[in-house]
Amino acid sequence: MSYDLIVIGTGPGGYVCAIRAAQLGLKTAVVEKNPTFGGTCLNIGCIPSKALLHASELFEEAAHAFPKMGIGVGTPKLDLGAMMKFKDEGVAGNVNGVAFLLKKNKIDTFQGTGKVLGAGKVEVKGADGKTQTLETKSIVIATGSDVTRLKGVDIDEKRIISSTGALTLDKVPGKLLVVGAGVIGLELGSVWRRLGAQVQVVEFLDRILPGMDSEVARQFQRILEKQGMTFKLGAKVASVDTSGKRLKAQVEPAAGGAAETVEADVVLVAIGRVPYTENLGLKEAGVALDTRGRVNVDPHFATSVPGIYAIGDVIAGPMLAHKAEDEGVAVAEILAGQAGHVNYDVIPSVIYTYPEVASVGKTEDELKQAGIAYNAGKFPFTANGRAKVNMQTEGFVKILADAKTDRVLGVHIVGPDAGNMIAEAAVAMEFGGAAEDIARTCHAHPTLTEAIKEAALAVAKRAIHM
Ligand code: FAD
Ligand code: NAI
Repeated sequence: MSYDLIVIGTGPGGYVCAIRAAQLGLKTAVVEKNPTFGGTCLNIGCIPSKALLHASELFEEAAHAFPKMGIGVGTPKLDLGAMMKFKDEGVAGNVNGVAFLLKKNKIDTFQGTGKVLGAGKVEVKGADGKTQTLETKSIVIATGSDVTRLKGVDIDEKRIISSTGALTLDKVPGKLLVVGAGVIGLELGSVWRRLGAQVQVVEFLDRILPGMDSEVARQFQRILEKQGMTFKLGAKVASVDTSGKRLKAQVEPAAGGAAETVEADVVLVAIGRVPYTENLGLKEAGVALDTRGRVNVDPHFATSVPGIYAIGDVIAGPMLAHKAEDEGVAVAEILAGQAGHVNYDVIPSVIYTYPEVASVGKTEDELKQAGIAYNAGKFPFTANGRAKVNMQTEGFVKILADAKTDRVLGVHIVGPDAGNMIAEAAVAMEFGGAAEDIARTCHAHPTLTEAIKEAALAVAKRAIHM
């Protein structure tokens, strides 16, 4: 069999790349080792976690917000089995959707583990151990990432779990100890707290959400604490004793010192993800990796071996589905002779908790460090009419604009629906917009988006409702 392009991996990077390549007339095939398409994101990442976040948010709202709005439904009862079924159905709908799209675009699909045998050759090893070799002009590696393990703490996905186990627990743990105050720890920690678990988060650094704007992170931590989550910052889990009925974690100060024992029913290890290149034959094929095990690529996603490209979580950059997708489109367009490009300055990032946290562009910390002069405009949701009437007033919008040109450099939102609202900021930034442009754009009333307009006005110190 001979192709123009073979994509290894069908996560959001791989399947989107294959579809774009097929649209542009390239004879395309994908190789996937999992029984279903869609990768981490659709099977054990974005989609199932958002299903549980949605359901658990409504569960909590039914208990706490409904009575205040005059809706009497009594104390909501949790049917965890049914909630998991709801999540699984959502996943099935999505992965089947990808299978449909691949077929619709006449992309050949190979089930099995792909191995690069060198430029132009991919071996596929099926579950039955049989191998076949495919020929192709170009190869795109889109094999994604895997859970980072914690030394001395063995994940069994029952009592000591990764994000994958946290999406399938069959009962609500009495106490959940989360290791890592990153995106996974806070999202999945929120799910289980809402469903009744006591949640404690141990974080190595002295702050949550490294990389996020530090003012946003501080305020968000206070909100999570008000919801009942507790934090132990500047600490790490050294070991977990699994011998008793309850787990006993040894928690040490990050800087060293005496350990304390923290008991828990379940420990969630959420300390990051690592690029996945196992059994891919990269070393033998001469494909260079960087010091963190990521595939090295140039600005056109080309690896050190001509004809072999890589995208998504397996290369440098934020491990986000939409970043992988945009790289997939860009490399397909490059292979078809077009000018594919990803603007890494405008990649939004969202944490789907309540309230949500969303950001795009530079943080205030980054601007300070780079010595870039900026004006900040801030607007709290307590002053937004829609947020007030909905009783959803926690958080704020912050817009950072270049002091000389007024060009928007970064937007940070803690608040209800922040994940949808950040799109407006991304569009403005992609067009090179100024805070003034956002401030002069008519925003519908009453909407939460008016807080963005007001923050833009606040950049020039002329917010109306504050
Ligand atoms: P992946 O989605 O990891 O796909 C790689 C695919 O390659 C897999 O299907 C794998 O089976 C296959 N593969 C690997 N090796 C081989 C081989 N040798 N042969 C054949 N197939 C192979 N990101 C967001 O943007 N928003 C979110 O809300 C979000 N939520 C997340 C929640 C969780 C719990 C997790 C774990 C991640 C989340 N992410 C989220 C991150 C997101 O899932 C990843 O950034 C994204 O999936 C990366 O896409 P990818 O295509 O690079 O790789
Ligand atoms: P992360 O990188 O977001 O956070 C890991 C946290 O663990 C960091 O705060 C880090 O300082 C801490 N840590 C590291 N080692 C530690 C140790 N030994 N003890 C205590 N703390 C330690 O990684 P996370 O949450 O595992 O997520 C992985 C990736 O998945 C992220 O890069 C994220 O981009 C992606 N993701 C995205 C989501 C979204 O977009 N909403 C949702 C979930 C995951």
